[in-house]
Amino acid sequence: MSRYKDKTWQESMRLRFDFNNMMAEYIGEEQGIERKDIEKLRPKLEKAAEDLKAKRDAGELQWMDLPYTQSEVVADILATAEYIKENFDTFVVLGIGGSALGPIAVQQAINHLHYNELSKEKRGGYPRFYVVDNVDPERMSALFDVIDIEKTVFNVITKSGSTSETMSQFLIVRDMLKEKLGDSYNEHIIATTDSSKGNLIKIAKDEGFKLFYIPDGVGGRYSELCPVGLLPAAVCGIDIEEMLAGAAFMDENCKSSNVFENGPYMAATLQYIAFNAGKNVSVMMPYADSLKFIADWYAQLWAESLGKEVDRDGKLVYTGQTPVKALGVTDQHSQIQLYTEGPFDKVITFIGVDRYRASIDIPHGYGDIPAVSFLGGHTLNELIKTEQMATEYALLKAQKLNRTITLPEVNEFTIGQLLYFLEVETAFMGELLNINAFDQPGVEEGKNATYAMLGRPGYEDKKAELDGRPKKREEYII
Ligand code: PA5
Repeated sequence: MSRYKDKTWQESMRLRFDFNNMMAEYIGEEQGIERKDIEKLRPKLEKAAEDLKAKRDAGELQWMDLPYTQSEVVADILATAEYIKENFDTFVVLGIGGSALGPIAVQQAINHLHYNELSKEKRGGYPRFYVVDNVDPERMSALFDVIDIEKTVFNVITKSGSTSETMSQFLIVRDMLKEKLGDSYNEHIIATTDSSKGNLIKIAKDEGFKLFYIPDGVGGRYSELCPVGLLPAAVCGIDIEEMLAGAAFMDENCKSSNVFENGPYMAATLQYIAFNAGKNVSVMMPYADSLKFIADWYAQLWAESLGKEVDRDGKLVYTGQTPVKALGVTDQHSQIQLYTEGPFDKVITFIGVDRYRASIDIPHGYGDIPAVSFLGGHTLNELIKTEQMATEYALLKAQKLNRTITLPEVNEFTIGQLLYFLEVETAFMGELLNINAFDQPGVEEGKNATYAMLGRPGYEDKKAELDGRPKKREEYII
């Protein structure tokens, strides 16, 4: 039996959410949140829970059901991953935003931190893995210096099927493949896109690419648990069934509309209260290199979902809490000074790990220098965890709000839980702010302006609008 089906094992992998250091009892009345602040919000919280449930029941939030709805597609993904493993050396994701950050985060979390540098044997026979999530020509060109495209599969991921960056990457790769391989170029391209909308779906069907679909009700930044993230993960040997089981486990644990029994709802509630009290910044600080890119993924999720000009009633609100990425302990030596002594405008979320997947002893040495020798006999594991506790303490002492999510271990099950936790927290925060957490009009504006400037048909009016913008003054350029 797979370990993730064992209830005892599941329980042993349960995430913990510790918000003591958000509360007045700990952090002090001036900055801290009182229980009565939460109680006061109860009607609003219950309504938010009801509304979210109603949307889910109406099929608008299909990302919430991904742990349960994909048995066929998972089988297809596993078979495709096996085929890629047998026939190719390298797998490259072409995508941006929600189509890239999840695959990067999960790969970094689960696999070896120097995965691509391992021999194929040490990678378990799985292909090397790259994500091209920018259109920097130097980066794209550098990729072609280290891969053999004849042994590479490119996974073009775009929900809209029209994002300029991704489609440009696709055009470049397709051209190169055609030149090298002739008619068989299409065997090197897999498309992951919407089943009906956009241009990629038509191209993929016409040219015979293997296709995976991004279901309706699954926006870019909520898509890691659908083929967007599952295929790249499976191709690198990550157990996607366990990851989905972890997400389902979290879903089961956040059914209650009582925020004291619902981790993600409580997390959002505290952020909401803090935000209304001027905490405009949300820092995520994992104490594990493997979780570094979870903070990147979260930054997009939080920023793009919650940063909105208008609320659901069309009222101007200019809302949103700015996400910041940090890494423990590295950023203790850069950002923490600001967090400890700077303005009271942040909530810091630590992500901790009980058991790291490696243990390293710090050797004894320099008995004559006590300020060095005290380190000997400890482990790096103790050091990183102690530093996390010490930083929490320093923030507590400085009355800076902070909270901690702890993973017993980093594995597919706990990562599935974590992603789901953060997605539900974001959606619940969207309800509390009364905004649409699933659109991104500000991003669309930039996309449309790019189309117009590069001459995409249908964007002539936008081009005229852009041409009418004020000319820059020379004296302001020095
Ligand atoms: O979360 C989102 O919707 C966005 O960040 C998109 O993922 C990003 O803009 C890329 O869009 P697409 O997948 O349509 O290429």
